[in-house]
Amino acid sequence: MTQCPAVDERLSAMSTPNASQIATITVNGRSLNCPTIVGSEGEIGIDISRLRAETGAITLDPGLGNTGSCESAITYIDGDQGILRYRGIPIEEFQAHPNFVEVSWLLIFGRLPTPEKTDRFSAALTRNAHLHENMKHHFQGFPIDAPPMAVMSAMLNALACFHPQFLEPDDISEDDFHELAARLISKVRTIAAYAYRHSKGRPFLYPDPGLKYCANFLHMLFSQPYQQYVIDPEIEAALNLVLVLHADHEQNCSTSTVRIVGSSKANLFASCAAGVSALWGPLHGGANVAVLDMLRAIHEGGMSADQAIAKAKDKKDPFVLFGFGHRVYKNFDPRALLLKKHCDRVLKLCKVKDPLLDIARRLEQAALEDPYFVERKLFPNVDFYSGIIFRALGIPENMFTVMFAIGRMPGWIAHWKEQHAAQGRICRPRQVYVGNQLSPYLSPDQRPG
Ligand code: SDX
Repeated sequence: MTQCPAVDERLSAMSTPNASQIATITVNGRSLNCPTIVGSEGEIGIDISRLRAETGAITLDPGLGNTGSCESAITYIDGDQGILRYRGIPIEEFQAHPNFVEVSWLLIFGRLPTPEKTDRFSAALTRNAHLHENMKHHFQGFPIDAPPMAVMSAMLNALACFHPQFLEPDDISEDDFHELAARLISKVRTIAAYAYRHSKGRPFLYPDPGLKYCANFLHMLFSQPYQQYVIDPEIEAALNLVLVLHADHEQNCSTSTVRIVGSSKANLFASCAAGVSALWGPLHGGANVAVLDMLRAIHEGGMSADQAIAKAKDKKDPFVLFGFGHRVYKNFDPRALLLKKHCDRVLKLCKVKDPLLDIARRLEQAALEDPYFVERKLFPNVDFYSGIIFRALGIPENMFTVMFAIGRMPGWIAHWKEQHAAQGRICRPRQVYVGNQLSPYLSPDQRPG
């Protein structure tokens, strides 16, 4: 698999260090001149791949906040300016005509699809919406209260059993990849719908080949055996927008996980299943559920916004202001701005008055005026408003993070493909060992209490 030519040229150009951009690292008198790589937007990366060989030292960067793992041409974020672009296109450009299938193609194949390519990809998504009948039986093995993210991760891995032709990354042609991407993007939606139906004890409904991506998902979630769910085009558009806004976010925890797993040449199903597991955590994709729990606790506890803020600032208090803060954004998360803007429209559309939205607004206002949050540049992130929109759309709360996984699937696929095309080395970080020095084996009677 190769990148599209424009991307290939840019990536190779980025790897040619300019002599004036050399970083010198000196450790115990031993110096290394490190070449630097300057990205398309001017950010500088210091290539330290010779550091250990030349100086014997490694870097240490817990949380990897200062460490680049790769060169990538998929998504650009400027955290200080609150900029997010998919293949160079600002996300704000997608809100007028949100089309998750088109954005998926853009992220994975590097450019906006022609109408023919969009039609071909849509047809592949429709063709691949079903799950193998044997896969459906696996759902019966889960308890009805099984966490949907556990079901999702397990069933994505299980796809490898039913699509063996995609298990060897080196054997996948560009055409095959088109089919593989369509299978994953289409089936992740069906798996999510079936996980929900299983949790409600409802029969699984087959996808309707006459419906587009989001409409088909709503149908499989909410239709009854003898009564088709009525698709409101505006609700369908709102769901497209929310999925578009979740589609990629460069080297976040779950996408980095997909790249790390993929770096061992594990197949795409296994890599995305690992991505789901990383996304599940409340510091990452699980925050959209944690935000609702937090807002509800504030509402039911009769807490004021200021009292909640005080608790969030108190290091001794376990209360966390979920939906606030971000490793990269030190300005508004542009996705939060768009979701906040669309919140009102979706609630009006769904004829929902949600008291939690009022609390969210008061909380945001209070936090943005509080020195603790201002000094630390803590702003609302993508998860702060997404849960309120999902709730208004009728998506059950235990499915919120699954919605994030559906949205992020094209990003995971795009990064796995980009990494595989670059034929990079297996990801295997170093460590600084701080454990026992050489110690003898002690027989049981010699061991201290
Ligand atoms: C996502 O990486 C991505 O791109 C992720 C994502 C994507 O699209 O993939 O954008 C999706 O995961 C969004 C984030 C969702 N998580 C939450 O909303 C959970 C709440 N937020 C925090 O846990 C935190 O802000 C993180 C995890 C998002 C970021 O953590 P960092 O970068 O490690 O920052 P930090 O914990 O070191 O915080 C720096 C300071 C600390 O205070 P001091 O030690 O300086 O005194 O800010 C404080 C933190 O205590 N802080 C908060 C806070 N977030 C950070 N204080 C109160 N409430 C918060 N929410």
